[in-house]
Amino acid sequence: MDANEPGLGTNRPASERLEPPDSFVAQANVADPAVYAAFEENWPGAWERAGDLLEWDRPHERVLGAEDGFRWFQGGRLNACYNCVDRHLADRKNQVALAWEGRNGESRTYTYLELYHEVNEFAAALRELGVEEGDVVTMYMPMIPELPVAMLSCARIGAVHSVVYAGFAADALATRMNAADSAYLLTCDGYYRRGDAVLLKNKADTAAVTVDGDVTSVVVDRLDGYDCSLGADEHDYDELVCAHARERVDPVRRRASDDLFIIYTSGTTGTPKKVTHTTGGYLSYVAWTARAVLDIRPEDTYWCSADVGWITGHSYIVYGPLALGTTTVMYEGAPDHPEKTRIWEIIERNAVDIFYTAPTAIRAFMKWGAEYPADYDLSSLRLLGTVGEPINPRAWEWYHEHVGRGECPVVDTWWQTETGGILVSTLPAVSDMKPGTAGPPLPGISVSVVDDRGGIEAREGGYLVVDRPWPGMPQELCEGRRWANRGDDRSPADPTAWTYPTEDGAFVDKDGYVTILGRVDDVINVSGHRFGTMEIESAIVDVEGVAEAAVVSGDHDVHGKAIYAYVSPEDGHERQDALREGIVAAVKESIGPIARPEAIVFTPEMPKTRSGKIMRRLLADIANGEDLGDLSALRNPEVVGEIESTVEER
Ligand code: WTA
Repeated sequence: MDANEPGLGTNRPASERLEPPDSFVAQANVADPAVYAAFEENWPGAWERAGDLLEWDRPHERVLGAEDGFRWFQGGRLNACYNCVDRHLADRKNQVALAWEGRNGESRTYTYLELYHEVNEFAAALRELGVEEGDVVTMYMPMIPELPVAMLSCARIGAVHSVVYAGFAADALATRMNAADSAYLLTCDGYYRRGDAVLLKNKADTAAVTVDGDVTSVVVDRLDGYDCSLGADEHDYDELVCAHARERVDPVRRRASDDLFIIYTSGTTGTPKKVTHTTGGYLSYVAWTARAVLDIRPEDTYWCSADVGWITGHSYIVYGPLALGTTTVMYEGAPDHPEKTRIWEIIERNAVDIFYTAPTAIRAFMKWGAEYPADYDLSSLRLLGTVGEPINPRAWEWYHEHVGRGECPVVDTWWQTETGGILVSTLPAVSDMKPGTAGPPLPGISVSVVDDRGGIEAREGGYLVVDRPWPGMPQELCEGRRWANRGDDRSPADPTAWTYPTEDGAFVDKDGYVTILGRVDDVINVSGHRFGTMEIESAIVDVEGVAEAAVVSGDHDVHGKAIYAYVSPEDGHERQDALREGIVAAVKESIGPIARPEAIVFTPEMPKTRSGKIMRRLLADIANGEDLGDLSALRNPEVVGEIESTVEER
């Protein structure tokens, strides 16, 4: 492989090993190392145990059918909402299902019974609005309880939700609604971020102008004292729910392979990549991994600090934890608003047992200082997890020591929007931990690291591929459609002749532990959020006065990676301040403020190869202040020095 590819070489292998503490092992859901062998000896049959975590209306005929694409739990029927809500009523209707922590100390809880009522009421309302099985309902919502309620309501009636992260711009919302052919939208008037009100409905209105066809909207009233007027075909959430008070809607029996939801993520192209997760396979998979890796039990209070707008929130705030009948915490605010004590306060107050967050957050906590967590009683914690980016050993160790008292195991969980759930991680009661290394593939999961020709095991570093299907795989892979260009295209019906290229660089050590090096495609992972360089570049080149743009990732202390935009202006547009403002505004408007470049570097020309391709690898090296080595492949090496000095001056 090309060792110079962006993303490789940014992490270092772990040196020490830590055993899981006996007290943790003694109580864990999955503590028997034989689980690995059980899956190997009986694959795919052993996946039965994931399916068994759910209640089915009709049992499956085969664990994995493979005639016409992959069908996990073929023949089975179930309803995801029933599994996450109704079936828990018998044992724990008065247990809190959702503990919501709002801004400034506000809070709200929903017991399983309360959740059941509201989900039924909103499902009835959706029906009344005309939503039918298979219709796509877009949700453009901040972290408020109505979002999971609405997701479950859709699942109840067999509608497919498409949640669009509230931080995305109007353009991004419109593109996703059009791509999904979605005629329904749930949004809210606005929300609070660090004390300021963000007017979400205004953004949704802007999007509506470019959405094809009529849209029926439901609007949640979140902002105090802000009266947003509703137009034709816009409905107030509370009124709808009240109008259907105490109504019941029978959960629709769905095929295991039916769509549960779609979610758009960033890929290598300029357009968002659609990922579709299934009802039976996905739900079984997230329930199984939430149980085996996150060690969730019904009596636990579990907190994943992700946003429900991303896959982590779907799988490990909503579906996985609720399928297991636990109490899941949902936090609306920022970790440092109003104080840097928020996170620790919430853990103490809720007596959180399991905490799952991103390395970027941990690096911020580290920067703020160990005195913040030290001031709180975090003794309720029994397990810690991370997801979203590689975690550097120093951050891992800090988390383990200052949050986990040196006692809680830490699981570094590798997965992606496409995988639905965790694929690579230690099992916290079974495997030793190595800080900085995610761990072995989970039982039943097989991955390998290959070189760029595919198939050959790379001893050093290479491309991480998944080489066996798994229940959480998305519809797009079940059907054998290909996203990427590596690997061959043998029949998807043959599970042994199949690989899924993850587009991550990785290496495997002698114990079979996988260290993730980062993306090897044109995707940048900033604070665990995915952006395609193409999406950002196309927003930038649309700005008047921009001739060419190249977006690459540079290393960042807290965010892992940062977006560097190299821009060459057209002649006569050398006024950099004006251009810079225009570029920032364009990125905000087409993607959202979260994609704002860390640095915009102007250069009269892009460094190009003799065949005229922009040398992005070189631009990434410049961003990281690395030694640039041989520049003989360049047509215009003279621009390099100039770009370097501009970057250094920043
Ligand atoms: C990265 C988030 C290292 C990886 C669940 C992957 C990780 C991308 C880890 C997917 C981890 C996720 N260690 N890198 N534990 N977890 N990644 O789709 O590059 O938003 O390809 O899914 O995040 O990001 P996505």
